[in-house]
Amino acid sequence: KGDPRLQAISEAIRVIPNFPKPGIMFQDITPLLLKHKVFKDTVDIFVDRYKDMGISVVAGIEARGFMFGPSIALAIGAKFVPLRKRGKLPGKVICEDYELEYGKDCLEMHVDAVQQGEKAVVIDDLVATGGTLSAAIKLLECMGAEVVECACVIGLPHVKSRLNGRPLYILVEPSEL
Ligand code: PRP
Repeated sequence: KGDPRLQAISEAIRVIPNFPKPGIMFQDITPLLLKHKVFKDTVDIFVDRYKDMGISVVAGIEARGFMFGPSIALAIGAKFVPLRKRGKLPGKVICEDYELEYGKDCLEMHVDAVQQGEKAVVIDDLVATGGTLSAAIKLLECMGAEVVECACVIGLPHVKSRLNGRPLYILVEPSEL
């Protein structure tokens, strides 16, 4: 708050009503990705927050967590771990079911992706109900990683209580709901 970069980030998010279903106000981050400075500012804010914290794992949630997570991982010297939808990862996986505001799904992680005691952050574009982040936290903690924080570009502050006590860091709130 008070950071002028946040205003530009908020303005670069396009709201598409009734996508992919009636009643959903889709928060489209693709215009943000088209603006180099805004995209870089977004990544830099996360990088400044997570560098020098001993974080060795950046876990990104399919699909839009993949658009921010790898850049953050490279910049802070961490590995990138993709958390994917069912059936996409070829190795041995653990899986966690979760409810989505428009459907039900399962998130998977390769069991050899993280080691016991590693410090992790989870990155996604948006948190709505918190169901997806909650599943991500469970996957990482199941393999013995410590989830230091979850971070999203867009989110509602009230969702914090859903994440089993793990901190949630969000840059902007949805501009329309
Ligand atoms: C969206 C978003 C988050 C999730 C948030 O992904 O990118 O991952 O929903 O919802 P929640 O907080 O209610 O769990 P979506 O399921 O649309 O998948 P996609 O990124 O693969 O399109």
